[in-house]
Amino acid sequence: MKTEFLGLKLKNPVIVAAGPWNRDGRSLLKGISAGAGAVITETIVSDALIDVRPRIAYNGLGAQNIRLYSDIQVEGWQREMDIAKSRDSVVIASVSAHTPSELAYLAMKMEKFGADAIELGISSPMGESLEVVASDAERVYQMTKEVVRSVKIPVMVKLSQNATNISKVAKAVKSAGGAGVSAINTVRCILGVDVETAEPTLSTYGGYSGVPIRPLGLASVATIAQTVDDIQICGIGGIEDYKNALEYIMLGASAVQVGTSVMIHGFDRIQEIVSDLEQWSAKKGIKEAKSIRGMALENLKSFEEIKIEPVVSRVDTPVCQRECTACVTACIYGAIQKIEGQILLDPEKCTGCGLCTFVCPDKKFKLDW
Ligand SMILES: Cc1cc2nc3c(=O)[nH]c(=O)nc-3n(C[C@H](O)[C@H](O)[C@H](O)COP(=O)(O)O)c2cc1C
Ligand code: SF4
Ligand code: SF4
Repeated sequence: MKTEFLGLKLKNPVIVAAGPWNRDGRSLLKGISAGAGAVITETIVSDALIDVRPRIAYNGLGAQNIRLYSDIQVEGWQREMDIAKSRDSVVIASVSAHTPSELAYLAMKMEKFGADAIELGISSPMGESLEVVASDAERVYQMTKEVVRSVKIPVMVKLSQNATNISKVAKAVKSAGGAGVSAINTVRCILGVDVETAEPTLSTYGGYSGVPIRPLGLASVATIAQTVDDIQICGIGGIEDYKNALEYIMLGASAVQVGTSVMIHGFDRIQEIVSDLEQWSAKKGIKEAKSIRGMALENLKSFEEIKIEPVVSRVDTPVCQRECTACVTACIYGAIQKIEGQILLDPEKCTGCGLCTFVCPDKKFKLDW
């Protein structure tokens, strides 16, 4: 499934996100070899980086990182870009800085080194100032405008779900001449606390990523698609498989990025997503992402439009031999009983909340509209 994103023709919409799995030229080549449509460098900054240790935690569901940025100075990226561009590839450079001029300087350098586009990584939840910038549409406008003025290649801006009004920030990117936005960056978090030692999992606030943030990413992408005209969007957050990629595309994204899944499962995951996406689109006769882009937005209603007519749950095959009482427990309205392997559903008590249709592993419940 081809896509056009930021004016670049990508062979597929799957992009390897910025992060330490893309810390140098050789790492970027891994994503390219796995078949990604494009790859994005770890964020490049002008100040020398000293990594804290430890800096990445994972609880089996999501990850917290306090990794910060690339430990290769911008000049060193000339060598890394030569390696990454040695194959037919689309390489996007992620850069970050505190001032528009510093940001423009880094972007110009990376353009000179062969980057096909720039991603402004100005929305990391680590470091108070950047978090403040990510919510400040005027600052984002100034930064984007300075970079757009300084380079010829397309510029996208990575947005934060922590922003108070993501639409306003996306509109600022567009009016500053940005070619698109990517959403979302990691979400400010504390992964957990060891209650025996009172130690947080990592020693400071970090960025949350992986499967648990996918619903936040999907909502951000849909919000931007619905509220900002003609803006190109790259969906990010918790993509594990081709279906997740399609979810983002159907909510308005032209391309998607994958990060934590590569970190945990390796670059084979990219190969898998790309090949499953190809199979799915071949079966459906879909050649380009744009023919399904935003399809789900037509079914996304505002709260005011949602039905309020009575809806009740129905169970067609009430015999249930499983060692399970999930539906009985989850029906907070007391409409379900399980007696000697029979599911008894009282339509008088059912308020049509819908939860039983999700908790039953056998999908026994249906809602009658
Ligand atoms: C360990 C780690 C390091 C990251 N480093 C960067 C970075 O350098 N620049 C950036 O813009 N995003 C960075 N991210 C954020 C990812 O690019 C991505 O936006 C986020 O993780 C959500 O996507 P995911 O759920 O697929 O990981 C990092 C994420 C992780 C887990
Ligand atoms: S729809 Fe809600 S109220 Fe009705 S049976 Fe299911 S869980 Fe109970
Ligand atoms: S949730 Fe499904 S499997 Fe579990 S008791 Fe209810 S009907 Fe049976």
